[in-house]
Amino acid sequence: MNTLADPRLASVLDRLFAEAAASAAAVRHEVARLSPEEQAAMMTSKTDYRAFYMRAKDLPLAVSRETGTLLYMLARSSRARTVVEFGTSFGVSTLHLAAALRDNGGGRLVTCEFEPTKVARARSNIEAGGMADLVEIREGDALETLARHLPPAIDLVLLDGAKGLYPAILALLEPNLRPGALVLADNADWSAEYLARVRTPSNGYLSVPFAGDVELSLRLG
Ligand SMILES: C[S@@+](CC[C@H](N)C(=O)[O-])C[C@H]1O[C@@H](n2cnc3c(N)ncnc32)[C@H](O)[C@@H]1O
Repeated sequence: MNTLADPRLASVLDRLFAEAAASAAAVRHEVARLSPEEQAAMMTSKTDYRAFYMRAKDLPLAVSRETGTLLYMLARSSRARTVVEFGTSFGVSTLHLAAALRDNGGGRLVTCEFEPTKVARARSNIEAGGMADLVEIREGDALETLARHLPPAIDLVLLDGAKGLYPAILALLEPNLRPGALVLADNADWSAEYLARVRTPSNGYLSVPFAGDVELSLRLG
């Protein structure tokens, strides 16, 4: 069984990846407007991230097809039933993770997005892909929406929102990570604090960088 190959979901993903490819130049342009110092500040800030993401509200900023497939594979192979995602955008990674839940026999995916137009587009894409029954989108800043009512035993986490918040979001989720949970952080190189946290053995993770810009961490029990 591979729900990613289901024609209904596959056609939504094909459209979303085509949109992401078409917007690549706009993303480069948006980033190039900033000096290297501004880029670094924008990518690492714990307070001023909102302005950048508001400017980028029409850009998918999606994971690559390879990373999406990898998310599906990791969620499938770990038999994940409960997933939390930080950073929904238009729902590309959400759809891959939800497809894995479907093929694992069902489950729950909580995902967070603070741009209202992105929430609306993600909802429509998730509905079109046939995954709405598995996904709960929490609208608002994840620092607030993930501060309460978390699933009790989280199997897998994807961190893909504001990079400066990775340590704070991990701290919110950590008490609910089940032993053996996987935590993936996209573009984690932008948060030295996050990498130090998951790579310090006494903090309870086994962690490696892979695929260039993803940090994969295992929560030890
Ligand atoms: C890189 S994109 C996510 C891409 C998505 N994972 C995908 O593959 O389609 C990051 C998203 O996180 C959202 N975001 C960033 N910081 C956030 C926060 N503190 N709370 C909620 N959403 C946030 C942004 O608006 C943006 O849509």
